Amino acid sequence: MPGSAVLQLAPLEALYDYGHGGEDFGTAVREGLSLGQKKLSAKFLYDARGSALFEEICTLPEYYPTRTEISLLEKHVTEIAELAGRGASVVEFGSGASVKVRLLLDTLAAPDWYVPVDISRQHLVASAKDLATQYPDLTVLPICADYTRAFDLPRSVRAPILGFFPGSTIGNFTHGEARAFLQQAASSLGAGAGLVLGADLMKAPDILRAAYNDAAGVTAAFNLNLLARINRELDGDFELSAFRHEGRLLEDEGRIEMHLVSQRAQVVRAAGKTFAFREGESIHTEYSHKYTIDQVQTLARSGGWEPVRSWVDDQSLFSIHFLAAR
Ligand code: AVJ
Repeated sequence: MPGSAVLQLAPLEALYDYGHGGEDFGTAVREGLSLGQKKLSAKFLYDARGSALFEEICTLPEYYPTRTEISLLEKHVTEIAELAGRGASVVEFGSGASVKVRLLLDTLAAPDWYVPVDISRQHLVASAKDLATQYPDLTVLPICADYTRAFDLPRSVRAPILGFFPGSTIGNFTHGEARAFLQQAASSLGAGAGLVLGADLMKAPDILRAAYNDAAGVTAAFNLNLLARINRELDGDFELSAFRHEGRLLEDEGRIEMHLVSQRAQVVRAAGKTFAFREGESIHTEYSHKYTIDQVQTLARSGGWEPVRSWVDDQSLFSIHFLAAR
């Protein structure tokens, strides 16, 4: 594995660390807050605190994607396991707490390796260890990496390979980035690989707005934690109460955007620079694209994957797709 550090870490096979973790955050903040429309990539939302808040979002009554995707997976996992084949190795992109993948691992016939790929190292190692203990027949090899960049699978991970990218995390990318990710995944996983992809669907505006502006304020805390993270890691002096969370629906663009809106004109120091905010000016912190089934399939084809099967719940809230690498 060129460019990665390999650590032995029982009960894990090893940990491959590409060192993408804290890298570039300072640069991203200096550059992103200097743009006309201030902007930070959604991947920076997931430090330890952000990852915990995200897991809390997944349990909120307004946040339909997690529970809908889990019931879709429960309903169709036998068919997915058949499409994946016996002795499959599962590579999960952005594994977080590795909850959904257990459904797959419980149903696949004699799964061989589980390779979770995540940028949040502490979280990755803790959940990989849990999983390795609970699935003693599985070889677990976490890779700490930014999965939008190229990474190599260890040579001992053999076909059939099943990629797993649930949660509609693909929606956090622009369409160009999503396509590049799919191409990257196809080349990392290799010809003949399968990919189980979760994609959130376009729906009534009220449902979408509520899901990204929950009554308990957990999504607000998740978004504002980005400013707290800048304060912690980059010696920033953001006053959190001077910013407000907003989950904005852009129907024509087919997406929700998260913003942090400055409540007054102010100057903030962070990462060795100063940044001026007008009253009402925002930092854009996340895209969350919403698709039609057709759009997902077209996107998949453009990224080198052939749609094999798609499943939707009976309220048409969410979709999962089995894709095959060409
Ligand atoms: C990371 C794609 C699952 O876009 O819905 C949840 C993150 N942001 N609430 C999404 C998120 C605000 C989420 N995913």
